[in-house]
This record gives sequence, C-alpha cells and structure tokens, in this order.
Amino acid sequence: MKLELAPSILNADFASIGKDVKMLEEGGAHWLHLDIMDNNFVPNLTFGPSVAKDLIKNTAMPAEAHLMVKNPLNLIEGFAKAGCKRIMVHCEGELHLHKLIQTIESFGLKPGVVINPATSVSVIEPVLGLVDIVLAMTVNPGFGGQKFIGSVLPKISQLAAIKRTNNLNFKIEVDGGINEETLKECAKAGADTFVIGSAIFGATSPKESLKTYLTHMGQVEKELRI
Ligand code: DX5
Ligand code: ZN
Repeated sequence: MKLELAPSILNADFASIGKDVKMLEEGGAHWLHLDIMDNNFVPNLTFGPSVAKDLIKNTAMPAEAHLMVKNPLNLIEGFAKAGCKRIMVHCEGELHLHKLIQTIESFGLKPGVVINPATSVSVIEPVLGLVDIVLAMTVNPGFGGQKFIGSVLPKISQLAAIKRTNNLNFKIEVDGGINEETLKECAKAGADTFVIGSAIFGATSPKESLKTYLTHMGQVEKELRI
C-alpha cells in the first residue's frame, strides 16, 4: 500500500490507551500519531515523553510525534529517547526551523514540518529539501473532531507540484477532519499519509472503522492509480 494511515489517539479513551494502541497495530495501521500539546502554542494539553515512551515500548508500530508546543527544541531529545521515528514541528512555532530539523536528525530521526491552514507554502519552501514529511493541517491545531478546512486542498496540490518539479521525495500528510470523503479529496490533491482521530475513535467500533479506512484507502489507490 502506497497510502499510509496514521491514527491519532487524541480522542481515544486514555483509561485503556495501551489496548487501543495494540488494536491499531493488529488492525494494520502504519503509524501511531502522537499529538503533543502544551496549552501555549495551542489551547489544550496532552502528554509528554514519558507517556509516549510507555506507549511506544508496547507496540511494533512506528510512532510520530506532532509537536504543537511553543518550544519544540526543548522536547526533541525526550521524544527521540521515547522511541519516536518521526518528529514534526510547526513552522509557526519556532523561527529557527533549520536548527530544529538538524536537531531531529542528530538523533537519527526523520524530520517533518507542519503547516497550519492559514500559513502559505512559501514559508516552508526553504526546508522542503530537508524534510521527510510535510504535515498539512486541515483544521486549526488543538482539538480532535473539527471540520475539515477545504481551502487547504490547493496547498496540498502546490506541495505535490513542488515535489514533482524539484524531484523531492517528502511525504505529504494531512491532519484534521479526515473522513472517507476528505481522504479521497486529499489523496487526489497529492496527500499520501492520513491522520485520522475521531472518525476511528468516535466510531461505535474503532476496530471496524480502522478496517473500513484501510479498505477505503486501497480503493482510492486503485481509482487514482497511485
Ligand atoms: C489536532 C490534531 C489531530 C486531530 C485529529 O490538533 O493534530 O491529530 O486530533 O483528529 P480528527 O481526525 O478528529 O480531526
Ligand atoms: Zn496531529
């Protein structure tokens, strides 16, 4: 499968989070998406490296940390040591993007840059040759269960075009409000990795929902000849 699914556990039941992570792994999810919030960069608070470490040590799924924090530099080492394979930092949070990317790489991890819905692609253009993944937010970061912002679609196409023209191979991931319909629209525009939170964990059976999404992604691949 070329398209990849990265379920977000933000809206999972934290009383049974270990079991949910196992369910995602056994169901065939490709990445575990960890939403890290500091009640500063975004008005919400989640968890830090020690919780991430406990979640990661009990799964074979690779984990990615989406850092929605004011000072990501201070946290990179912690999340690297927690076992994350990918760390993604917002271009809006810290002015020294190159330094952040270099720091992530210095721990042997894949760096990613995140761009908010209202931020132009030009802001991240200087680092597109340096990252493994671009995470395009399709909602304003902070909470699960929000409505997909459709005006991000042209930005995804723009990123895909830059990638083609310059022969770059960063992945394009989308995060927020992803359901069957928006997943297809994003894939059409050029996205290849999908964060899904509430559409899985808000379902009556998260396990069934995961299965449905993986099947759907297979169909989208066929339809779009990816
Ligand atoms: C939002 C987070 C997302 C989000 C996804 O700030 O980055 O990962 O929780 O959840 P849904 O799929 O519910 O939009
Ligand atoms: Zn996220």
